[in-house]
This record gives sequence, C-alpha cells and structure tokens, in this order.
Amino acid sequence: MTALDVRPMTENDRDAAFPIYMEAFGGGPEDLAGAAELPIADRWVVTGEGKVLGALRLLRFAHYFGGVAVPAAGIAAVAVSPQARGRGAGATLMREVLRASAADGMPLSTLYMSTMAPYRGVGYEVAGVRNRYRAPLTTLPRSNDSSNVEPWTDDGLDEIVQCHRRIAATQNGLIDRPNDWWTKRIFGVPSNKFLYRYLVRDGGGVVRGYAVYTQHPEPGHFPDSWTPGDEDVYALAMRDFMWETPEAARALLNFAADHWSVGTNIYWSGPPGDPLLTFFRDRLPVVDTSYMWMARLTDVAGCLTARGYSPGVDITAEFTVEDATLPDNAGAYRLEVSHGKPTVERIDKAATTVDVRGLAAMYTSSMHPYDAVRAGFLRPDKDETTDALAAAFAGPAPWLIEFF
Ligand SMILES: CC(C)(COP(=O)(O)OP(=O)(O)OC[C@H]1O[C@@H](n2cnc3c(N)ncnc32)[C@H](O)[C@@H]1OP(=O)(O)O)[C@@H](O)C(=O)NCCC(=O)NCCS
Repeated sequence: MTALDVRPMTENDRDAAFPIYMEAFGGGPEDLAGAAELPIADRWVVTGEGKVLGALRLLRFAHYFGGVAVPAAGIAAVAVSPQARGRGAGATLMREVLRASAADGMPLSTLYMSTMAPYRGVGYEVAGVRNRYRAPLTTLPRSNDSSNVEPWTDDGLDEIVQCHRRIAATQNGLIDRPNDWWTKRIFGVPSNKFLYRYLVRDGGGVVRGYAVYTQHPEPGHFPDSWTPGDEDVYALAMRDFMWETPEAARALLNFAADHWSVGTNIYWSGPPGDPLLTFFRDRLPVVDTSYMWMARLTDVAGCLTARGYSPGVDITAEFTVEDATLPDNAGAYRLEVSHGKPTVERIDKAATTVDVRGLAAMYTSSMHPYDAVRAGFLRPDKDETTDALAAAFAGPAPWLIEFF
C-alpha cells in the first residue's frame, strides 16, 4: 500500500486537484476554467508517491450551542480520484485535517454528507437537520398590512447581523457567519437574478425580523388573461427568514402573502417543529426537503468547555471517551457544570464509556442521552450519569439554515 501524505494545497497542486473535483462531482471545461480563480487557502490534498489523489476544503466558522458560538471546521468538497478510492486516501485526508484543525483552534467539525460511511469511520455522527419548509402563498396568514416592512442594503448589515446573532444564540447549530459568508453566500446571486432584502423594526426602531430571498422559477399560473395554461412563474426562496417577535413574524408572512397573485410558494429553512407553523391558520406547511448534517468533536475537552450551558444546570458527569481516529481525545473526563459554567478535567478513569460519535450527537442536542444508551453509544455505570448528561445537553433540536 502506497504511503499517503496530507498537506495544505499549493498552487502547484491546482492542475491535479481541480480535475479530481470535476470527476467527483461533475463539471465541464467551463467549470474547470472557473476553478482557476478559486483561492486555495484552506484546501488540503492527500498524495501518494507525490501524486495528488484527493482534496477537500475547510471552512472556518462557528456554531451556536447553548448560546455560545463554538469555533468549527466545516468540511466541504471531499473528493478522491476514482482510481484511488477504497484504499484509505479519503480517511487519511480527513483524519489529518481534523488533527490540524483542532490544533488550529477549531474543536468541532461539521459537514453535509453524500455518504455517511467515510465520515462515521473517522468519528462523525448525524447531529442535526436542514429542513426546507414549503407553503403556498395563498395559505399564508394575513395581518393588517406590510407597511412596516422596509427594504435594506449593505449599509444596514450591522443591525441585521445583530438580529441574526440574537436569534441564533437561542438555537442550537446555527452558524455565526464570518463577514464574507454574508456577502458571498447569503447575498451572492447569479447575474440572471435579483436579491431581495426586507426587514421589520419594533416600536423602538430595533430590527426584529428580516428576509433575504430570490425568486425561483416554478411552474404555476399567470392570470389566464395574460398567458393561458402552466408557465414558469416564481416561488420566494428564502435564504434567511428570521424573526424574534410575533409582530415581526406576522409582518413578514403578510409581506410574502402579498406576492400570491403571480407567485407560487414560499420556501424557508426552519428548525424541526418550526414555531413559525403556529401562525398558519388552516393548511399546514410541509417539509419540502430535509437534509441531515454530521458533527465530530475533534477536541473533546475544547468542545465541552466552549459550548454554553443553561444557567440552571448543576451537574457532574464522569465518562471515558473512545476515539480510535484521534487517540489524543481518548480517556477519562470529568465534566462539571455549576450554574451553567463548565469545568472539564482529565481524570484517571471513569466507568461510564461513550463513543466519540455518540458524544457528538448528544453534544449538539441531536440525540438524547437515553437514546444514546439505546443505540449503544453510551454505556453508563449508573443512571445518574445519563441524567447528568441529559441535563447538560438539553436544548432546542439543532438545525442549519444554509448548505455548505
Ligand atoms: C467519498 C470519498 C471521498 C471516499 O474516499 P475513499 O478514499 O474512497 O475512502 P476510504 O478508502 O478512505 O474509505 C473510508 C471508509 O468509507 C467507506 N467508503 C468509501 N467510499 C464510500 C462510499 N461511496 N459509500 C459508502 N462507503 C464508502 C470505505 O469502505 C471505508 O470504510 P471502512 O473504514 O469501514 O473500511 C470518495 O469515494 C469520493 O471521492 N467519492 C465521490 C465524491 C463524494 O461523494 N464526496 C463526498 C462528498 S460529501
């Protein structure tokens, strides 16, 4: 078996690495030419005998857990050349990038997967959802008017970021977005689309909700007097639909409803059991697509210390973490949370054992510790340990708005 080496991508790797992406994910000469402009910072390659066999991209951001943003390495565009697959290149690439990212101050890692096995193999577990809800515009609840809904521009971004952060800090999983995440991912649109941005303020002038969206072509009906039959009209595809008061939710929903005569549906990302559904009067919105994501604790002590805990939590739990991929994580820990403040210590031994994958699922509040016991991830020596972990990690079901 060829010795494998993992290192940051250099300009010299470009001609070998980007064709591997094209072959892995599809793409033609135009896409490859476009890739020549892509920055190579935070891209990594795995090589064998000096030849690039695969690559991935690391994204730096943070996820809110328990009210605190935990620095994370998002993993994207993992690709191994078809000739080199199934021989450990992907696993080696992942393992070494996880090691490097933990050392670089990112105790957590997350990703969206097209296949789970390679990521489970290096310690990831399903840790949350990205639900896209859909509702016909004609079923949206109506309120008095949309006159307090106003457009905003880049100049108003600070207020929007603050509103986003206030909401995100009450949820689990949502991303604390770096500035260029806003400008490129949330606001970036192809040349054939407009981006629409509207907000709602409360009586004191504070932004309490906002929407960022494009119009997405969808079969529907123009009024028959214009064009008979089915035509592509448009849906409102929300990139963000954020609200922190009932007034803001009602105003934004009414504003969206005002598009009903030509528009079809509204799509938005929301948590499981989205509280927005409580505003709908008759027809319930549906989950149009549901995509899961995975998490990995690359630095167990760092993760346990970094997340927030409810101020009412007072627990002590001792457990031994099993981690075959990153053995530095393996061993016994004591997690003590006092009035919501965590202390994490390495200890000699602990009778309760937990697989690092199960710990990721519990840490994100995706899997209740009772379920982790049922699934075989958590093997407690006494019920109190399970209950202590349940109290520590209790919180809203984790979700994400955007895809990466
Ligand atoms: C997914 C991919 C990166 C894996 O790379 P690889 O070098 O073949 O993976 P490895 O040889 O290191 O295998 C790691 C583990 O994953 C399993 N595995 C690899 N590819 C798999 C697949 N497509 N489906 C299911 N299991 C897979 C292997 O059996 C191995 O499991 P094991 O540890 O239990 O033996 C590679 O197949 C690829 O580039 N696929 C096309 C692009 C893609 O889907 N990328 C992922 C985007 S999220």
